[in-house]
Amino acid sequence: MIGGLRLAEREIHALDMEQFDETAMRRAIERKRDGAPLEPQTWEAMMRSYVGGGIGDAQMGALLMAALWRGMTIDESAALTKAIVESGETVEFPAGMFVVDKHSSGGVSDIVSLVAVPLVAACGARVGKLSGRALGHTGGTIDKLETIAGLRTALSRDEFVAQVERVGCAIAAQSQHLVPADKRLYALRDRTGTVPCAGLIVASIVSKKVAGGAQAFVFDVKCGGAAFIHDSNEAELLARELVSVAGRFGRSARALVTDMNEPLGHAVGTGIEIVEARDFLRGEVRDARVRTLVLRIASEMLELAGIASAYDAAAAALGDGAAYERFIAMIEAQGGSRAALERMQLPSRTEAAVAPRSGYVAAIDATAFGNIARAWSEHEPMAGIVTAVRVGDRVERGAPLAHGYGAKASASALLPAFAIIDEKPEPRPLVYSRIS
Ligand code: URA
Repeated sequence: MIGGLRLAEREIHALDMEQFDETAMRRAIERKRDGAPLEPQTWEAMMRSYVGGGIGDAQMGALLMAALWRGMTIDESAALTKAIVESGETVEFPAGMFVVDKHSSGGVSDIVSLVAVPLVAACGARVGKLSGRALGHTGGTIDKLETIAGLRTALSRDEFVAQVERVGCAIAAQSQHLVPADKRLYALRDRTGTVPCAGLIVASIVSKKVAGGAQAFVFDVKCGGAAFIHDSNEAELLARELVSVAGRFGRSARALVTDMNEPLGHAVGTGIEIVEARDFLRGEVRDARVRTLVLRIASEMLELAGIASAYDAAAAALGDGAAYERFIAMIEAQGGSRAALERMQLPSRTEAAVAPRSGYVAAIDATAFGNIARAWSEHEPMAGIVTAVRVGDRVERGAPLAHGYGAKASASALLPAFAIIDEKPEPRPLVYSRIS
């Protein structure tokens, strides 16, 4: 086998990397399957060929599965990151303009980007964010934003830069021009069950961040039953790898490892999460966990941008409505309107899942909720779930645990996601660790 690998390596090197064809791809799949790391030039040639149509989804899917099982070295993650960045254009902000960005590794009811981006901009820092769509059971900021009537996320490079300069913030989708390879790989990973691979997550996230042009990033690495990485040690390794690969591209980065064992907020879905973010920014409903995480992440972003008294500045901008007004300004700059946002409401059809017994909520299965809400909201963007309780809450028999909204809403689908026990469970921390 070792001799076989050496032969295959020589053959790969001998190939004209510009013509990385199906035979070269088969060899790369076999080598990865057998546990050999692939060289940077192989990753680069492979991604060029994939984006150019030289190799198809079947072979790429096989390689992704081999990478998931065998793991990827940090050099492989960095090489794939570079290859994805080079698959398209990159954004450059004008000299002297310092831009920060944040990214979550994927959560359920995770409205932090929707709130923190305008909040940080309201405090005087500039934020340019390239976001993704829903992946597996986790929500996508782009899908959520697109439920606001008229709002565009497909911004050209010039529009993106001009908006960050003028409004202070923008959230755009990766496009055919920016990281097109991530757009295809992302969709393929979603279809092939190959999302939870640390090396692929690192390349997907850091490539978007680097191509998006920001100089500093904050990563929110989710950890727990509903995160792609369940174990806190592995999540910390992922966090370190994100910070380290970002460093190889000359970017400063920090990461927080945060809990994803229950939905972060209360709303789960697409448009329904915009309503939660809107009401949070307006100060109408302020869930304590969401507030804590928003302020932690916003403070890290502001510190990276050199803003003094970061935490106090963020808390003030949340309190005095400046963050909400910046959210409106961002929406308007991207084609939406205040009226469209403020008109958004939950579907009138609702079903409540109620507690079958009295006790303490021991678990809320956020993965199940993410999958259910994704299915319900596929053709009805405002459909979804709003939880009425948190893990640790005391409930009495018959009290509501969650409400389903929309044509497909069904209480019986929601009920199995709850576990109720007699003893109050130990509280879990929200932030497990910080890497800088
Ligand atoms: N977010 C991304 O952009 N990519 C991933 O792989 C996971 C979360």
